[in-house]
Amino acid sequence: MPTINWKLPEMVSAAYAPLFTSDKRYIVYKGSRGSGKSEAAARKAILDIVTKPYVNWLILRRYANTNRQSTFTLIQKVATQLGVSGLFQFNSSLPEITYKPTGQKILFRGADKPLSITSLSD
Ligand SMILES: Nc1ncnc2c1ncn2[C@@H]1O[C@H](COP(=O)(O)OP(=O)(O)OP(=O)(O)O)[C@@H](O)[C@H]1O
Ligand SMILES: [Mg+2]
Repeated sequence: MPTINWKLPEMVSAAYAPLFTSDKRYIVYKGSRGSGKSEAAARKAILDIVTKPYVNWLILRRYANTNRQSTFTLIQKVATQLGVSGLFQFNSSLPEITYKPTGQKILFRGADKPLSITSLSD
C-alpha cells in the first residue's frame, strides 16, 4: 500500500483549514460562490473515512435528487485527486459510496424527505 502524503489543511482554502483541526461539534461554513466550501468538505469526508474506521458520512442537500450531479460527483473527483478512488465503490444509481476495506459508507439524502434520514444504520 503506497504511503499517502496529504497535507489537507494546506490543500484547501486557508479559511476552511480549521475543518481539519477543530474539535467542535458543529462547524458552519460561509463564503461566496466558488470560495472552496464544497471542495474542503469533500476532502474532509474522504480523510475521515480513510483515517477513522468508526466514521460514516451523511451528506444532505435540500433536494435529494440533486445529489448525484453535485455532492456525489464531487466526492468521486476528490477521491481520485487524492489517489484513493480505488479503495471506494461508487454506486451512482443510489447514490452511495462504500469504503471497501471496512464497509464504511458515505450516504446521500435530501431535506425534502425527512423520513429518509431516520433509522439509518450500516
Ligand atoms: N484548495 C483548492 N485548490 C484549488 N482549487 C480549488 C480549491 N478549493 C476549491 N477549488 C476550486 O474552486 C472552485 C469552486 O470551489 P467549490 O465548489 O468548493 O466552492 P463553493 O464555495 O462550494 O461554491 P458554491 O457556493 O458555488 O457551492 C472549484 O472549481 C474547485 O475545484
Ligand atoms: Mg458548494
